[in-house]
Amino acid sequence: MANLSVQLAPKYRQGLHLANPVMTASGTFGYGTEYNHLFDIQRLGAIVCKGTTLKPRDGNSQPRIMETPSGMLNSIGLQNIGVKALIREKTPIWAEWRVPVIVNIAGETVDEYAELARELDGVTGISGLEVNISCPNISAGGAEFGVHPESAAKVTASVRANTSLPVLVKLTPNTGDITKVAMAVAEAGADAISLINTVRGMAVDPFTRQAWLGNRTGGLSGPAIKPIALAMVYEVAGAVELPVVGCGGIASGTDAIEFIMAGASAVQVGSASFVNPRAPLDILEGIEQFMAREGVKDISELVGAARR
Ligand SMILES: Cc1cc2nc3c(=O)[nH]c(=O)nc-3n(C[C@H](O)[C@H](O)[C@H](O)COP(=O)(O)O)c2cc1C
Repeated sequence: MANLSVQLAPKYRQGLHLANPVMTASGTFGYGTEYNHLFDIQRLGAIVCKGTTLKPRDGNSQPRIMETPSGMLNSIGLQNIGVKALIREKTPIWAEWRVPVIVNIAGETVDEYAELARELDGVTGISGLEVNISCPNISAGGAEFGVHPESAAKVTASVRANTSLPVLVKLTPNTGDITKVAMAVAEAGADAISLINTVRGMAVDPFTRQAWLGNRTGGLSGPAIKPIALAMVYEVAGAVELPVVGCGGIASGTDAIEFIMAGASAVQVGSASFVNPRAPLDILEGIEQFMAREGVKDISELVGAARR
């Protein structure tokens, strides 16, 4: 049997051990419970839950989803049940699971991130935090925290200071130089870096002469963004010492292998789950088949292979 296990937080005292490198991407797999009856989700490397905010949110106005060539646009606007309901209703279920669950968090100010980290610290059933820094930074005038290295580092440091859990920071591609942001969050105490979140996009309905999405613009995901994500994973993996989690358009085992060869230690499956709810497991099996065919005994042999 080949070894697919991954250590996502080598700097962290207890580590963050995954049985295999396939994770679900935040916002595309609910709280895991929604998929539990469809396949054995315990076989996955980790589940990342929907972005969680301090207060429950209804999200943006409809329409919020649109299909595009080789992908989709969404402008959900972080609809979620809020951190208190998450702790009360979801974490007792996760505590019974073998698969680690990572909570994706989002705030509008640095203090909100700190408070979320505090609320979730020590709660049984949570194996790590993934910090989504693609939210509007109200205190600095509406830009995303992840756009600038300084604000990205501030959020990371505030979460790090308020949790004993491993901290993944999820980067946005909608920035000038993603490697500078990656280096800043690494310096500020991140254990691992996930990338990428959605690419800013828009669609117009020519007959109503209006933007198609209620929010006007949204985030592009799916196979359309895979080459963008791959290049960014390649660049970031070359710039930081931390484990990198690749995400963006992964729909098959060989897609995942490409990300791993570009330098990712693990991958996240997002929009593919909307086409095929079993996609994360199919992708894991695709990785296993690739390794068997190529005679690879340990997944670590493939990490960064395309970099050498
Ligand atoms: C409907 C939808 C909701 C999402 N919600 C979140 C979220 O709450 N937090 C987050 O960090 N990323 C969120 N994302 C981004 C995904 O986790 C992922 O980074 C992105 O979709 C790229 O991966 P993919 O091409 O495999 O979908 C969302 C994506 C989609 C399509």
